[in-house]
Amino acid sequence: MLPQAYDFLASTSVIPVMVIEREADAIPMAEALVAGGIKVLEITLRTPCALAAIKAISKAVPDAHVGAGTVCNSDDFSAAIDAGARFIVSPGQSDSLFDKSITSKTPLLPGAVTATEVMRAAEAGFKVLKFFPASTSGGAAAIKAFSGPFASVSFVPTGGIGPKNLLEYLELPNVQAAGGSWMLPKSKVQAGDWQAVTQLCREASELSNMKELTQ
Ligand code: 3PG
Repeated sequence: MLPQAYDFLASTSVIPVMVIEREADAIPMAEALVAGGIKVLEITLRTPCALAAIKAISKAVPDAHVGAGTVCNSDDFSAAIDAGARFIVSPGQSDSLFDKSITSKTPLLPGAVTATEVMRAAEAGFKVLKFFPASTSGGAAAIKAFSGPFASVSFVPTGGIGPKNLLEYLELPNVQAAGGSWMLPKSKVQAGDWQAVTQLCREASELSNMKELTQ
């Protein structure tokens, strides 16, 4: 059972990692993802229009559950909440991010890929952790190994995940969801080919349903 603040994760197996270069793409991109069955959206603070995109999507796409990713300091954390982010994802962890999450009651998924990082985050009360970059940090085998010593912690791996290896991760009981950008290929986004994005999301949703059939 997830702590209350992480309940939104129970409704998804896949989280798109969105890098929005043009503000005008924000709403159609979010609509395309939602149309493909993917409603929990992580918008990375990697581009100048990221906060505006969070604001716009939160307002215009009510079915989306919008969060901010690539949050590396407490100022960005505050700005993301002000823009409407309902959860925060960080590639790493710091005391100030932990404090901000606890005082604002906004769920944070801090990054952890080593036993020490997992212990530090869990000790601070964070039980759902981003595992990034997954493919170069031991992949699914490393997450599986963490299930022994860290039975109460689960992971959202990102980095190098796609249709070919998604199920390897989702089949692990300590993987809550998997994130990535494979459903948003640059060429399709640049061309505004939102139907292609929706189709890739449908395929990802179908794959994640296969995980439910195997469990
Ligand atoms: C992330 O920020 O979580 C990753 O960069 C996403 O990785 P991907 O582009 O390999 O899916």
